[in-house]
Amino acid sequence: MLLSLENISVQFDALKAVDGVSLNVRQGERRAVIGPNGAGKTTLFNAITGVFPPTDGKIVFDGRDVTRAPPHTRAGLGMGRTFQITNLFPNLSVAQNMELALRGRSRRKFSFFGNADLTVDERAQLDRALTLTRIGARRDVLVRELSYGEQRQLEMAMALVSAPRLLLLDEPAAGLSPAERAIVTEIIRALPRDITIVLIEHDMDLVLSLVDWVTCLNNGQFLAEGAPADIRGNRQVQDVYLGRRHA
Ligand SMILES: Nc1ncnc2c1ncn2[C@@H]1O[C@H](COP(=O)(O)OP(=O)(O)OP(=O)(O)O)[C@@H](O)[C@H]1O
Ligand SMILES: [Mg+2]
Repeated sequence: MLLSLENISVQFDALKAVDGVSLNVRQGERRAVIGPNGAGKTTLFNAITGVFPPTDGKIVFDGRDVTRAPPHTRAGLGMGRTFQITNLFPNLSVAQNMELALRGRSRRKFSFFGNADLTVDERAQLDRALTLTRIGARRDVLVRELSYGEQRQLEMAMALVSAPRLLLLDEPAAGLSPAERAIVTEIIRALPRDITIVLIEHDMDLVLSLVDWVTCLNNGQFLAEGAPADIRGNRQVQDVYLGRRHA
């Protein structure tokens, strides 16, 4: 297993946002985490990446216990993520945002922009991430001039720039038009299998077309797990989604 969560809980005061969740993700797997609003999906990502370390349970990444490791250590071990809320510098170019993402991961001291500061390897990583996310042609454009879909592509590029082995995507297609959604879906589908992907997504059609296995959470707890088609037909899963929507 590349990632194992053993009985993870995250408690905020009286609220258990994640409540005893166990989950195993194989190397190369494409996994979706679904569940209604407030189910604990983003909090689970925050536990995995160390933003809110679990109050209970254990996280093993690539054979190492990282339960208490700080976020930068986990990033250094090969975890990359995107955020549910856009997290870019609008007045900087695509390439400058990428350089900041790269420097955030690097041990070298921050100095001001200029590709001259990047090592050959870093430059290659940056180019590769831009190519994988099909945003390379926009590298000198200011982020505020990108479409929303292109901004989400750039966020994926920033998560990929450190060549992660595990990529966590928090609703990468949320708020996108059907055409933009198709591009993002195609980008994710085409990512090399040496990148393991865990994806939070509400759109069942997108989930069905992308992943091998689906985990459904509800109220912070594990509800169901299975192949995408089985999960779509799962009565309990349908009930929690429909229940919330009609409430
Ligand atoms: N930092 C925090 N402090 C206190 N409560 C929090 C915090 N972060 C999340 N929560 C609460 O934990 C619960 C789970 O939230 P979370 O954001 O993980 O849900 P989610 O499944 O990602 O939902 P959505 O689909 O709306 O993104 C919610 O009740 C939320 O209000
Ligand atoms: Mg969320």
